[in-house]
Amino acid sequence: MKLVLFCLCLVTTASYVAAAILGLDYGQQYTKAVLLAPGINFEMVLTDEGKRKDLSGISLRADKNDIERVYGSQTGSLCTRFPQSCILDIKPLLGKSIDDPTAKAYLTTHHGVKFVADETRNNAIKFDLGFDNQTYVFTVEEVLAMGLNEIKSRALDDLEANPAAATIAEDVVIAVPPYANQATRQAYLDALHLADFSNPLGLVDEGSTVAVNYLSNRKLEKADYNDAKEYHIVYDMGAGSTKATLFSFSAFKNGSLVLELEGIGYDEEFGGKLLSNSIYAVILEKFLIHFNLEEADVTPKIAARIAETAEKAKIILSANSEYHASLESIYDDRDFKTSITRGEFEEINSDLMGRITEPILSSLKDSGVTLDNVKSIILNGGSTRVPFIQKHLSTLVGEDRISKSVNTDESCALGSALKGLKLKTSFEKPGEIKVIEKNYNNYEYSINDESIVVFAKGSGINEKSRVNLGKLNDTVAINLYENGFLFKSYNVEDLLSKAKKLSCNSKETKEIVATFKLDNSKLFDLNKLEIECVSHEDKKGFLGNFLKKQVATEEEEEDIVESVDESNNSSSTNKTEKVVTKRAKKPITIVVPKATYPHIKPLNRTAKERLSAKLSYLNARDEQKIQMDQLRNVLEAKCYDLRNFVDDKETALLEEVSDDVISEHTKFVSETIEWLEFDSDDASVKDIEDKIKDLSDRKSKLEDIILMSETDLSISGIKKLYEDGSKIVMTIQSHMLEFGSQISEIRQKYENASFDFDKENNRIKLHLLSKGEDKMMSFDRNLAEYKKDVTTVGDLIDLPEEEFNKIPRSELYEYQNKLAKGIIEMLADILSIETSHNERIKMFNTKYDQLLKRREIKELRKKLKEEQAAAKEAKEVVEGDEEEEGGIIEEDDEEFSSVPVETATPSSETEPEPEVEEKADGDIEHDEL
Ligand SMILES: *[C@@H]1O[C@H](CO)[C@@H](O)[C@H](O)[C@H]1NC(C)=O
Ligand SMILES: *[C@@H]1O[C@H](CO)[C@@H](O)[C@H](O)[C@H]1NC(C)=O
Ligand SMILES: *[C@@H]1O[C@H](CO)[C@@H](O)[C@H](O)[C@H]1NC(C)=O
Ligand SMILES: *[C@@H]1O[C@H](CO)[C@@H](O)[C@H](O)[C@H]1NC(C)=O
Ligand SMILES: *[C@@H]1O[C@H](CO)[C@@H](O)[C@H](O)[C@H]1NC(C)=O
Ligand SMILES: *[C@@H]1O[C@H](CO)[C@@H](O)[C@H](O)[C@H]1NC(C)=O
Repeated sequence: MKLVLFCLCLVTTASYVAAAILGLDYGQQYTKAVLLAPGINFEMVLTDEGKRKDLSGISLRADKNDIERVYGSQTGSLCTRFPQSCILDIKPLLGKSIDDPTAKAYLTTHHGVKFVADETRNNAIKFDLGFDNQTYVFTVEEVLAMGLNEIKSRALDDLEANPAAATIAEDVVIAVPPYANQATRQAYLDALHLADFSNPLGLVDEGSTVAVNYLSNRKLEKADYNDAKEYHIVYDMGAGSTKATLFSFSAFKNGSLVLELEGIGYDEEFGGKLLSNSIYAVILEKFLIHFNLEEADVTPKIAARIAETAEKAKIILSANSEYHASLESIYDDRDFKTSITRGEFEEINSDLMGRITEPILSSLKDSGVTLDNVKSIILNGGSTRVPFIQKHLSTLVGEDRISKSVNTDESCALGSALKGLKLKTSFEKPGEIKVIEKNYNNYEYSINDESIVVFAKGSGINEKSRVNLGKLNDTVAINLYENGFLFKSYNVEDLLSKAKKLSCNSKETKEIVATFKLDNSKLFDLNKLEIECVSHEDKKGFLGNFLKKQVATEEEEEDIVESVDESNNSSSTNKTEKVVTKRAKKPITIVVPKATYPHIKPLNRTAKERLSAKLSYLNARDEQKIQMDQLRNVLEAKCYDLRNFVDDKETALLEEVSDDVISEHTKFVSETIEWLEFDSDDASVKDIEDKIKDLSDRKSKLEDIILMSETDLSISGIKKLYEDGSKIVMTIQSHMLEFGSQISEIRQKYENASFDFDKENNRIKLHLLSKGEDKMMSFDRNLAEYKKDVTTVGDLIDLPEEEFNKIPRSELYEYQNKLAKGIIEMLADILSIETSHNERIKMFNTKYDQLLKRREIKELRKKLKEEQAAAKEAKEVVEGDEEEEGGIIEEDDEEFSSVPVETATPSSETEPEPEVEEKADGDIEHDEL
C-alpha cells in the first residue's frame, strides 16, 4: 500500500475524529465497506468468511413461523435453489416505481422474483417473496437497509475488537451513482435510517470518491506544484452501469491542492450484467436446442443456474480464451455441457462497442475540455477487467493513458470513508485536498407556469438561496423540478390569516420569500418560507423603474423618485436584477407544509417507524436464533462429555454403583442426542437450558462417586479425620482465649485512664461490620455447625465395628465429605478472624492514643484559660471594663469542642497543638463512618 503525502495527512486527521466513520460502496453486485476510527485506519470490513467484498443480496425464506435471513455470499447456492426467495441487484430499483422500465427489465432477468405495487406510495416497488404473513412484503428501502445493517453489525464487531476505537458507528457515507435522481437519493437516505445509522454524513458521487482516493494515493513531485489544471477521467464500469467522471486537479505553488469535479457521462444500463446476460442468451439458446425445448419450459431454477454459469463464463473469459460449462441434472435429470470462446463473446457484444466509450465523450461535452487534454483514464469497477473493454478504451485514448493506479474493487469505498472524514471535520488543513463538488442538474421551482432556475447545472452544492416569490396571496403552490422533471410540490394555504401578525407600513407590501437548499447529498428542497414587508425601490435601470411606477400608489411614487435620485449609476442596464428589496419588519416564518409527490413517494415518518420496528424485531429474532444455536452446541457438547466420562471411569464407577445406575445415565445421553437432532425444533431456550442443567447435575453426581471411590472410608481413616477435626476445635478455643485476654487487657487500660471502653467497642464493631470485616457473627454460626459435624463423626467411630461396617458407603462418604470440607472452611475462618481481631486491637490502641492526646490538649487549654482569667482579673483591677471579652472566652469552653481552637485562643503559642487536634478529629470521624 502506497501511503504517501496525502494519506499521511489524512491519517493524522483521523485521530482527531473520536467517532467511527463507515464508507460504503453498495454496488449492484458487490458491496465493500471501509471503516475509519481511532486505531482503525481505512480498513475493509471483512465478511464472516474473511472476504473483502460481499455479494449485494439477501435470501429471505420462511423458517417455521419465522423468516430466515441469509446475507451476501453466505447465500451460497440458496439463490439458485430458491430463486424466488433471493433478492439481488436492487441498486437500479431504488427510488423507482413498478411502472418504470427498469423495474420491468429487472423482472425479465430475475426469474421467480415477484413485485407488488405499493399504492400508498404511488406504486413504489415491494418484493413479494411468497410469505403468508403480509408483514413480510418488503420495500426496496427495507431490503437495502437489511444489508446495510448487517454491515454495520460487522463494523461494530471490528470496533469492539479494537480497544482504542469508539464503540459506535453512526457516521456513515454511501456512494451513489452521479445520475441518481431525487427519489433515488431519498431512498438511500431512508434505507440508512432504517439500517439504524443515526448520522448519515451524506451521499457522495461514486466518481468523486474514486478521484479522491486516486489523489490520496498519488505522490506529488515538486514539478507538480505548477498552478496548472490537470484533467483526468474516472472510468467506472460496474455490474449495472458505466460512469465517466471528469475532474481536474491543481497543485498550486503556494501549496494548495484543489480537486474539482467537472463533468459526468454515463450509461445507466451498460455494465457487467449486460455482458453476462449476453452470454446467458447464448447458453440458453444452446440449451433449448439441446433439449428441444421452448423458452416457456425454462423454470426459474434452470434460469438461475444458467445465469450463474454465464456470470462465471464472463469472469473466466477475461483471462482465458475458452470456457467449458457443465450443468449437471439440469433438465429431466440430464446433464448439459457446452462451451463458449472469447471470440464468440466479443462477437455477440460487438454492437455494444459504442457504448463503451460514449460516457467518456459525454463527460467532456459541456466542460470545454478536449480528450487530448485528459491526462489519464482511471479504471475502476470490476467490469473494466474484461479484456475487450480495456482494448476498446485503448483505441480511443491510447494504452499509455489508461491508468490502473486505483484498486478497482476498493477505491470507491476507501474514497467514501475519506469524503466522510472531510464532511465530518469540515475544515481544510494545509496540505489537504480541497474538493469542489459540482451539481450536474438544473434545479428549478415554479409558482405559476414559468419555472425559474434556483441552482443551475455546474453550481456548487450545500448551498442555500433566498428567493422572493412575489406579492402574498392566500395560497401558493410551489413546485420543485430536477432537470424539468416535477418531483415535489408544496401547497401552502391560509397565508393571509398567517400574515396578519405582520404589520407593514403603507409603503410596503407583504411578500413571500422562500429559501431553497441543495444539500450535501444533492437533495433539492424548500427549506424555509417567510412573509416579510418589502418596499420596492428600483436602483437599477429604467425599465424596472417604469414597471414599478405603474403599480405604485401616489405615496410610493415619492419613494421611487427618491431612489431614482440616489442611483447615480443609471447607465447599468442589468435587467435580470429587477428589484432590490429592503426588509422592513422582522419577517414571520411559515411552517413548510407536507409535500405532495406526483411520482414515487418517499417513506413517511409513520411508515419508517413501523419498518424500523419490524427490522428490530427480525434482528432480535436472529439474535435469539444465534443464542439458541449456541445453547444447542453446549447441550451437544455436554452429552458427549458425559458419555466420555462414563466410558473413561466405568471401572471406578462400577466399584461403587451398579450397572443399572450407569446405564441409566448413558441412556439419558443417547435420548438427549436423538431429541436434539430430531425432536427439538420447537424447543424453547428453557427446554435446552433444563437439559443442560440435568446433564451437569448428572456429571457432578458421578464425579462425587469417583471421589468417594478414592476416599479412605475405613474406620481407621474416619478416625484419623475425626482427630484432625477435633484438633481444630481446640486450636480455635485457644485462639479465642488469647483474643479474650487481649481484649480484657485493653479494657483494663481504658478503665485505668477512665475512658469509656464499651462505647469505643461498639464503634469499632460497627465500623468493622460496615467494612464487612467482622467475621465473628458468621463464624459463631459456622463453628456451631462444624462442632455438630465433628460430634456426628465421633459418634460413628464409637460404634461397634460390625455396626460401623453396616453403614452404606455412600452415607459414610456423606459424613466424611462434610467434615473434610468443614475442616478446610474452619482453617480459612481462623485466618480471617485473626486478621479481624488484629485490626480491632490496632483500632483500640490508636483510639486510646488519640484520647490521651485530646485530654492533654484539654488540660493545656484549661490551664491557659486560667492564666488568662488571672491576667484579666489583674487587668480588671486596673481598668474594670472588659467583661464582654471574658464572656466570649467563657462560651467556647466546652468539652470536645469542634470549634477550631484558634478562634477561642488567639494566642500564637498554642497554635501547633490545635492543628494536631483538628487532624486527629478528622481521622477518627472518617474511620468511624
Ligand atoms: C404513511 O405511509 C403509509 C405507507 O405508505 C400509508 O399507509 C399512510 O397513509 C401514510 N401516512 C400519512 C400520514 O401519509
Ligand atoms: C406476521 O408477522 C409479524 C411479525 O413477525 C407478527 O407480529 C404477526 O403476528 C404476524 N401475523 C400473522 C397473521 O401471523
Ligand atoms: C493558492 O493559490 C490559489 C490560486 O491562486 C488560491 O485559490 C488559493 O486560495 C491559494 N491558497 C493559499 C493557502 O493561499
Ligand atoms: C399572487 O397572485 C397574482 C395574481 O394571480 C400572481 O401574479 C402572483 O404571482 C401570485 N403570487 C404568488 C406569490 O403566488
Ligand atoms: C454613486 O456611485 C458611487 C460609486 O459607484 C458610490 O460610491 C456613491 O455612493 C454613489 N452615490 C449615491 C448617491 O448613490
Ligand atoms: C446581471 O447581474 C448578475 C448578478 O450581479 C450577473 O450574474 C449577470 O451576469 C448580469 N447580467 C447582465 C446582462 O449584465
